This record gives sequence, structure tokens and C-alpha cells, in this order.
Amino acid sequence: MWASAMSSAAPPVPTKTIPGSYGLPVLGPLKDRLDYFWFQGPETYFRSRVASHKSTVFRTNMPPTFPFFVGVDPRVVAVLDCSSFSVLFDRSLVDKRNVLVGDYMPSISFTGDTRVVVYLDPSEPDHARVKSFCLDILKRSAATWASSFHSNFDIMFDTLEREIAKGGSASGLVPVQQCIFNFLCRSIVGADPSASPEIGSNGFAMLDTWLALQLMPVTAVPNFPQPLQEILLHSIPYPSFFISGVYRKLYEFVEKHGEEVVLRAETEFGIDKKDAINNILFVLGFNAFGGFSIFLPALLTTVGTDKTGLRERLREEVRRVMQGRPGEARPGFEAVREMELVRATVYETLRLNPPVPLQYGRARDDFTLRSHDAAFQVRKGELLCGYQPLVMRDPEVFEDPETFSPERFKGAAGKEMLKYLFWSNGPQTGAPTAENKQCAAKDYVVETACLLLANIFLRYDEFVCADDGFTVTKLQKAAAAVPVE
Ligand code: HEM
Repeated sequence: MWASAMSSAAPPVPTKTIPGSYGLPVLGPLKDRLDYFWFQGPETYFRSRVASHKSTVFRTNMPPTFPFFVGVDPRVVAVLDCSSFSVLFDRSLVDKRNVLVGDYMPSISFTGDTRVVVYLDPSEPDHARVKSFCLDILKRSAATWASSFHSNFDIMFDTLEREIAKGGSASGLVPVQQCIFNFLCRSIVGADPSASPEIGSNGFAMLDTWLALQLMPVTAVPNFPQPLQEILLHSIPYPSFFISGVYRKLYEFVEKHGEEVVLRAETEFGIDKKDAINNILFVLGFNAFGGFSIFLPALLTTVGTDKTGLRERLREEVRRVMQGRPGEARPGFEAVREMELVRATVYETLRLNPPVPLQYGRARDDFTLRSHDAAFQVRKGELLCGYQPLVMRDPEVFEDPETFSPERFKGAAGKEMLKYLFWSNGPQTGAPTAENKQCAAKDYVVETACLLLANIFLRYDEFVCADDGFTVTKLQKAAAAVPVE
């Protein structure tokens, strides 16, 4: 096993040339793009190259790769095992400036002409200012985070129950997105979305469109026919004017109803008003809403389609813990800290479905990169690209890596494994700070997901999802008296 590979006692490995090539100009990148989006799909794209190069480190092209993307360089060095991927967390070796989604960066006109925090490297002074502000928002909202989640959870599941009663099943995506949007708007902006009828009913869809336009050139869209997907979605960067009216409405909403948070950014963190609002909107819409919109459906489907008895065990744990906390109607942060299986299920879902699959970093200088079994010379300026779904199935680190097994994160040995869980752009044992690039909400994401599972198994005896897509097919209310309000 690899446990010692990153320590100073790591055994010596041979130095090799990075395998792979970028192919002929234009044609090589185009072929790779068609493989990535069309003929292979992202996972097979990386897996097949690991197999053909017999290496988890190799050269390849990443989309967008088309002459219309003037100035975008598709060439990357892929890093696909836990050892080489970890270099992306080392700020002395990699620069994270403007590389959130690769060498391509959506126009800053999508974010009101502000280069928002995710695009800043910690060496830039604005990074610490804005990241500290984000950490402060989270700290201040901690007291109301769980109760705000509970009220929106109830609305979401009341809706799902009504839909199932009407039609036998309920598509989960819209109720989940509405729940996430309302809850995050209160927690991050400090505003009730229904203060504006338009934002209250359409805010989540506005963010979906804003996100889609920015990410289209680098996103594989399942079920969108080819070659139309390549021609229409992956060939040009979409201009922001399609969405500028919508963005303006969101901006004005934060300006008017999030006054207190905006004022704090100005007075306590020295961020000017426009940059504060654009950063709040980005964190709300891109990081928080975007991240949860991918992760929570994945968690619900994983649990709701399980065939190993996981749901019975989760229900037993949730109710046992809550019975031991008399007087607590709903599970809060403290209660879910006692739910080991719930937490392990959340970790295991994050391992197998990292919501942000790709991470990038640019070499600050020439340096030696280590995979498990070899060392490679990386040159200054080269872009490293990690594909987490593969890294999180590294057989040198995770036993039986393809199998969903929450038990791997239980007990003392399970706790040890958390240093290899990388979904937040850093190890789960790390802490987000103003000096690093780890997700500001690393702990809040896990706690929120635990709250979701705990609430489900307190309220329902059974919760089942269909095997395809995110559809809830059964919600059976708890028969016995369970301590819910
Ligand atoms: C499931 C939900 C979430 C996921 C999967 C997620 C994931 C991530 C990832 C992977 C990064 C690093 C991006 C990169 O540089 O490559 C990141 C950064 C960040 N996230 Fe999250 N995030 C989530 C929720 C949130 C929430 C709720 C907040 C609210 C404050 C937040 C705030 C941030 C901020 C401010 C950064 C930038 C960190 C920096 O530049 O130093 N995230 N997130």
C-alpha cells in the first residue's frame, strides 16, 4: 500500500519521461476532444490512456480544443493517482491562478467583471481577503445553518410526498434544487429569496442557466445527441450577454436584501461593494448551489437504490442516536457527529462521486513529480490536470476501490483513510484557510449531507429511488413514534 509514499521515508523510484503526446497541431487536440466527449466519455478517456501508457501520469489534451478558442492551450499533464494528484494541493509547487476549469476561463463578464476568489492564487493579496470573508460568512451562519436546512427539507419532502401520492413517483431534481437555493440564500446572503417573487420562484433556474453558459465548453452533456453536442455546445465560448439581464437581477437582489453581509465585506474585509456582491453571487451560485446540486442528488440516489441493507442500518443508527438525545426534535450538528455510519456513507459517496471531478494547477517552476512507482520531470508553466473519479479509486490506496463500502471510513482505520479523501481540493483531514485553496465549506458540506440523511431516516421508515435517474419512488412515513416536532 501507498501509505508511506508521500512521507520522507518513501522508497526511491525510477525517473521516467512523461509518456504520451499531444499529436499533430489542431488534429491531435480535436481527436482527443471527440474521444473525451463522444467516443469514450471522460472516464474511459482517462482509463484507456492509463492502460495504454502503463502510467498514471501522461501527456494529453483537454477540452475545449478548437481553433475558435483562440489562446486556450489544451495541453496538460494528467495526474491520476493519489500520490501525483496531491501535488495540486502544494501551493509552493503549483499556481492556481485562472485554472479552475483548465486553461480555458469563462469571461469575467459572467461575474460582473470581477475575477472572483476561485480564480485567484493564494499569492495574490485579494485571495486572502475574499477567502477570509467567505470563512466568516460560514462561521456566522453556523448557528442558523441546521434550522434553516430543516425548514427547507420539510418543504422539499412535502413536495415529494405530494408528487408520489399523485403519480406514484417524483422527480427529485427541482425540489432538491429549490431546497438548496432557498437554504443557501438564507445562510450565505442572509436573505429570504421570497422577498423577490421572481428570485423566490426562479432563482435556482436562473443560476442553472448562468452556470451552464459558463461551463458548456468543458462539460459532457449526457443524452444530448452527437455530433450536435460538438457543433452546438463545445465549439464556441458562449458570450455573457445571453445572461446579463438575469445576472443583473440576482446582483440587485443581493445588493438590496443582503445589505448586512455586503456591508461586512466592505467594512471588515476591505472589499469594495461591487466585488463583494460578485463574489457572494459566485460562492452562492457556482460553489455552493452548483456543488450541492451535483452532490445531494448523487447521495440520495446512492442511498435510495442501495440493495445491501444500508438503509435499515442508517435508520437504526439515526433513531438510536436521537433516542439518546431526549428533547431534541431534529438532528443538529452535534447529533450527526454521533452518527458514524451516516457520516461514513457521506464520505464514501464523495469518494466515488467527487462533485467537482477535475482539478488543475500550473507548475511554478521545474520540479519532480512522483506517482506511486515513478518520478517525472515537470517543466515550469506546464498545466497539471487531475481527474478525481479515477484518483479516488486508486488501488494502491483504497482496497476494493470500485465497491461502495462506507465501512472503509469507520473506526480508527477509517479515520486514517480520510487523508486520502480529496473532494474539497485538499485532504478531508485538512482545514480551509486564507492561505490555501481548499473549499471554504469543506466541513459544512459534510455536515449538511449528514443532516439530510438523518432527517430522512427520522421521518421515514423507507426511502427508495429508481435505478435510473433521480426519481423517488417510495417514501413511507415512520410508523412508530419518532421524536420529530
Ligand atoms: C457540495 C458542495 C461543494 C463542493 C463539492 C465544493 C467543492 C469545492 C472545490 C473542489 C473547490 C476548489 C476548486 C479548485 O480550486 O479547483 C472549492 C472551492 C471553494 N468553495 Fe466549495 N464546494 C462546495 C460547497 C461550497 C459552499 C457551500 C461554499 C460556501 C461558502 C463554498 C465555498 C468555496 C470557496 C470560497 C472556494 C474557493 C477557495 C479558494 O479559492 O481558496 N463551497 N469548493
